[in-house]
Amino acid sequence: QSNQLLVKGGTVVNAHHQQIADVYVEDGVIVSVNPNIKVGDDVTVIDALGKYVMPGGIDPHTHLEFDVGFTATVDDFFSGQAAALAGGTTMHIDFVIPLNGSLIAGFEDYEKKAKKSCMDYGFHMVITKWDENVSREMELMVKEKGINSFKFFMAYKGILMINDELLLEGFKKCKSLGALAMVHAENGDAVYEGQEKMIELGITGPEGHALSRPPVVEGEATSRAIRLADFVNTPLYVVHVMSIDAMEEIAKARKSGQKVIGEPIASGLALDESWLWHPDFDIAAKYVMSPPIRKRGHDRALQAALSTGVLQLVGTDHCAFNSTQKARGIDDFRKIPNGVNGIEERMHLVWDIMVESGQITPSDYVRLTSTECARIFNIYPKKGAILPGSDADIIILNPNSSFEISAKSHHSRLDTNVYEGRRGKGKIEVTIAGGRVVWENDKLKLSPGTGRYIQMPPFSYLFDGLDKKDAIYLNSLQAPVKRAKTSS
Ligand code: URP
Ligand code: ZN
Ligand code: ZN
Ligand code: ZN
Repeated sequence: QSNQLLVKGGTVVNAHHQQIADVYVEDGVIVSVNPNIKVGDDVTVIDALGKYVMPGGIDPHTHLEFDVGFTATVDDFFSGQAAALAGGTTMHIDFVIPLNGSLIAGFEDYEKKAKKSCMDYGFHMVITKWDENVSREMELMVKEKGINSFKFFMAYKGILMINDELLLEGFKKCKSLGALAMVHAENGDAVYEGQEKMIELGITGPEGHALSRPPVVEGEATSRAIRLADFVNTPLYVVHVMSIDAMEEIAKARKSGQKVIGEPIASGLALDESWLWHPDFDIAAKYVMSPPIRKRGHDRALQAALSTGVLQLVGTDHCAFNSTQKARGIDDFRKIPNGVNGIEERMHLVWDIMVESGQITPSDYVRLTSTECARIFNIYPKKGAILPGSDADIIILNPNSSFEISAKSHHSRLDTNVYEGRRGKGKIEVTIAGGRVVWENDKLKLSPGTGRYIQMPPFSYLFDGLDKKDAIYLNSLQAPVKRAKTSS
């Protein structure tokens, strides 16, 4: 395969603009975007007439080769990325979760896991405890390792959950480093309480998962995280927004001018909780993830929030456990490993649910699936755009052809799929990653080892103007009130 490519005659879509043009690629980089580019016959030409040519998807939220202690997700950096590329996603940001040890050890562990990568990737880092060492390591991660975001779990009591004191310490540290604070927003104490109650009532099946952690539990933690971030005056990113309750807290904060980002995920937009009541345990257990998939109505509200700008980008939280692993919780929903698939399905689902239905334009689609993620994590316009100088991560979507989702044909190692049987309009026919055609004619051509680690620099646009707000606050503080000494 030559290292030059011409994508010919398609509608090139960026987040702010679309035009009919050719895209010329050399050595993995977009060189020009213009109508009627002439090339020699040694250049591979891909016809895109009548199709959309868009930046490859960036999935801001994945868990590949995630070891939860008693087991690990079935998708590693090879199978998970194969699935991603077959579904038009050309970069993902995975969570380094340093379960027993230092951030450095965690980072090195994930560096090894990611060696087989065939697409570009970045890392978020999870903070699970607080001491001087963690604080120092955070600094090292930002200054030397290309990490600009840290996730804090307000749930998973006794495992990952941190308290408000740590949350405040973490937020302050993030602010000083120019790193983005992210939260898993569920009240872990309330979840624990809810779980005990379900078990006492004899509700041990997957429906107990939803019943034990209702939307109010997510709304409370979202509100608390937002207010603490406001108190510290640092930007906040709320991962996997699953409910109207959480979304409305984000809407309110944004309206007041606070820098809060809300990330709904594919399952929250496309599914409803009724699956958790399915009489077949294996089917119901597939849908167990946290926060839970909600009642119908939440899905539509999250879609509307995306279309009106209340929420800014879509992730997946791809965290794949097969039916044998899920069966660990056959007698107790608390033991079902949490997580659903989505890395392969997100781009198709968002197109079908949001564009095909008329809720957003193709430009909005590009923004929600790629550009905004690149901006938030400070790698735009290297990623998230079809512009001269940008990485050649490109998809071709045919709006007139259809996709169908099934565990029988997907590329994940999962034996199940939460979107089994779902079909829709708009198929991603070609994926180009780093200038290589990796997905064409329903076939993958992968080169393990060609994916690169993308360093993400601190102080994204979200930090603009924060110092001004700090200065105004400091100026507003009055000198101590002088009081006359009183006797006895
Ligand atoms: O259920 C979920 N979401 N599993 C993945 C870990 C997380 O909380 O993101
Ligand atoms: Zn233009
Ligand atoms: Zn989470
Ligand atoms: Zn997650």
